[in-house]
Amino acid sequence: MEGRHLVLRPLTPEDVVPGYLAWMNDPGVTRFLESRFRSWSREDLEAYVRAERACPDSVLLAITLREDGRHIGNIKLGPIDHNARRGAIGLLIGEGDCRGRGYGTQAIRLIVRHAFEDLGLHRVHAGCYATNVASLAAFKKAGFREEGRQRQHWRDGETYVDGVLLGLLREEWCPEET
Ligand SMILES: CC(C)(COP(=O)(O)OP(=O)(O)OC[C@H]1O[C@@H](n2cnc3c(N)ncnc32)[C@H](O)[C@@H]1OP(=O)(O)O)[C@@H](O)C(=O)NCCC(=O)NCCS
Repeated sequence: MEGRHLVLRPLTPEDVVPGYLAWMNDPGVTRFLESRFRSWSREDLEAYVRAERACPDSVLLAITLREDGRHIGNIKLGPIDHNARRGAIGLLIGEGDCRGRGYGTQAIRLIVRHAFEDLGLHRVHAGCYATNVASLAAFKKAGFREEGRQRQHWRDGETYVDGVLLGLLREEWCPEET
């Protein structure tokens, strides 16, 4: 999948290099991710990538820069419910100098296109902490609507934080914005 600045391609075990490993063990990157509750070794991450690649209900992609192929983050469509034709989306931009530059929004738009055009899904959805302003803004810019709030659903340090549920239907999607 190619966008203006990004290429999304399948993530492979060979992508598990020190940089990717560092993202997963950096509390600044994982503050709003459930993966933060454990530490990650290279073997753990390779096993995770292998398991995702073998799973028919999941599409795990590397977010790379179009200009030089640099691997800056990952995005996942999954789990996919093939009966209901819907899939969840989650992502991270691991490279600090690549956050806040529109790449998260573009990666979401690209995987949404894949979900609707290639996989024939009817709906995509996501969830985030209400305090994760960048994530909330990125999904909304990509066309997602807020569908609900889960009161004090998450814990961030000693604070309970609302969860925000977001969704986008095929019929609402504007492909020209990809
Ligand atoms: C959340 C994340 C994927 C967003 O990607 P990104 O590339 O940084 O976001 P974008 O550059 O596309 O920005 C999207 C919007 O968020 C805003 N934004 C980005 N970073 C922000 C920040 N730190 N504070 C406030 N707003 C921010 C941008 O301004 C933009 O809105 P605008 O165009 O109206 O100004 C990325 O920051 C990230 O990976 N964070 C760590 C992991 C994570 O939290 N993942 C999401 C779990 S649900």
